[in-house]
Amino acid sequence: MAVYALWNNKGGVGKSYLTFQISCEYARTHPTEKNLVIDLCPQANASGMLMGGIIRGEEQLDFFSSQNPRLTMLVTSISGFVAHIEALVWELIS
Ligand SMILES: Nc1ncnc2c1ncn2[C@@H]1O[C@H](COP(=O)(O)OP(=O)(O)OP(=O)(O)O)[C@@H](O)[C@H]1O
Ligand SMILES: [Mg+2]
Repeated sequence: MAVYALWNNKGGVGKSYLTFQISCEYARTHPTEKNLVIDLCPQANASGMLMGGIIRGEEQLDFFSSQNPRLTMLVTSISGFVAHIEALVWELIS
């Protein structure tokens, strides 16, 4: 199993896009493995890209964000994706 973590304090340097590219390339070259992306950025740009990009990705973001209750992790609200992430994590570890 490979684990990649991307972090940089500076904004707008390509963290989200690189995350998208790395995850897509890993999935392409490891088609039998499960590929989990944990998007910890409240902007959720990497998630948006993975869910279809500008229009479809934003629609999906809106859908997850509108779920009631809006899910939170630790003390910080992280996009609307915690439900999706939790479901994937449970699928991976169970
Ligand atoms: N390798 C690249 N070549 C050209 N443009 C790029 C490249 N990587 C990212 N970009 C563009 O640069 C901009 C910033 O990229 P991105 O959103 O990935 O940065 P970020 O570090 O995640 O920003 P933020 O700190 O706001 O979360 C975007 O418009 C993206 O399309
Ligand atoms: Mg980003």
